[in-house]
Amino acid sequence: MRLRTAVVVSTVGLLAAAGTLVFASNASAATTLGASAAERGGRYFGTAVAASRLNDSAYTTILNREFNQVTPENEMKIDATEPQQGQFSYGNADRIVQYATSRGMKVRGHTLAWHSQQPGWMQNMSGSALRQAILNHVTQVATHFRGQVTWWDVVNEAYADGSSGARRDSNLQRTGNDWIEAAFRAADAADPNALLCYNDYNIDNWNDAKTQAVYRMVQDFKSRGVPIDCVGLQSHFTGGSNYPSNYRTTLSSFAALGVDVHITELDIRNAPTSAYSNVVNDCLAVSRCRVITVWGIRDSDSWRSSESPLLFDGSGNKKAAYNAVLTALNNGSDPGNPTTPPSTGNPTTPPPSGSCTASVTPGTVWGDRYNTSVTVNGASNWSVVVAITSPQRISATWSGSPSWDSSGYVMTMRSNGSGNTFGFTTMMNGNSSARPQIRSCTAS
Ligand code: G3I
Repeated sequence: MRLRTAVVVSTVGLLAAAGTLVFASNASAATTLGASAAERGGRYFGTAVAASRLNDSAYTTILNREFNQVTPENEMKIDATEPQQGQFSYGNADRIVQYATSRGMKVRGHTLAWHSQQPGWMQNMSGSALRQAILNHVTQVATHFRGQVTWWDVVNEAYADGSSGARRDSNLQRTGNDWIEAAFRAADAADPNALLCYNDYNIDNWNDAKTQAVYRMVQDFKSRGVPIDCVGLQSHFTGGSNYPSNYRTTLSSFAALGVDVHITELDIRNAPTSAYSNVVNDCLAVSRCRVITVWGIRDSDSWRSSESPLLFDGSGNKKAAYNAVLTALNNGSDPGNPTTPPSTGNPTTPPPSGSCTASVTPGTVWGDRYNTSVTVNGASNWSVVVAITSPQRISATWSGSPSWDSSGYVMTMRSNGSGNTFGFTTMMNGNSSARPQIRSCTAS
């Protein structure tokens, strides 16, 4: 079971990274979606992948060239992975995972618990037998893919559409309102290092009752220590008008709860360039928006191919929307790697500036994150600049008022009257050796 910190999450700092855009020169602009996203603070640009298409060289040529993340479109769903109760089937899912990981692409598991795509045996179950069956499913599947799946859509589409803000009625919901947190706890126990997400559609507009309801659930989970790391906004848009103008507010509001936000199934009817670039710009403006995944490669691969909603046409040609997305990515803020990665960290270095010093005390280290405390001497009103190393990210802070530069990797922490020690939690994101660097301490 992973240990999780009970900390006060800073909303201010996490939102402030939304800052100024720095325009990259054309000479250095990345030429693929994945490469450009990686340059934007280690983000991922991915696609849904169907195992049946991995023999199509036109498809794999684009997949290999453009994307650094994949989501199996159907192969990890309950009907695919446990077609008969207790008999697990991983062939197609394993194929995608092997394909992706051998090429350095990250995998999003989709999905462990869902009212839809249940095998017949599960559709007919209810009550405690169903509860036990779904938790066993979560445990078995998350265990099978342990170490291979970076993020799991643990629960998919559990809220109702419309104005009720209620849970969706389903056989899973009827096992008890706590079925979602039970699924998250089971996934956490099975794969403590995977990042665990709640995923849904129609949670893009901040004013929608469904969005607000999911927000309250995540807020509740965070306050009670239910293991949740991320929220996925599917973002199946029906056209330019369906992209909500408050989308960035939605992303930043979820992020302020202390979770990453992901755009998990993006497609837009007729692929308008403006809506596509707005989505990218909104994600880049929120430092915790870490992943954009389109729901298929070519229009002909789409679950709604008649709407031509993707970035490549049926012949594999780049569409105008592709160019808009790549341009938006390339024009986004480029944090690069603001610190020289330290090999061992600097637990006691107090580089002075002005009339105070700041010293670092390493805190608890977990599998995926670690805490750091900083003690300031010589001033009661102070500001300390801390730099972390990409792709690590600060996920929570306490006992100070943080603000961030546009990269999201350089935090200025100011005293807030709560003393001379502040702290923060850093997600390792695959880099377990780098440690924060104190850049300056300034008395004010
Ligand atoms: O593979 C069979 C094929 O053998 C058979 O001949 C054919 C006719 O019935 O069906 C094929 O399976 C279909 C499968 O897609 C692969 O094409 C299923 O019937 C069909 O239900 C399934 O649809 C998928 C849908 O989820 C339902 O699971 C779509 O591909 C997939 O894009 C869609 O993805 C969902 C996300 O998981 C959750 N969010 C919404 C999104 C869009 O609906």
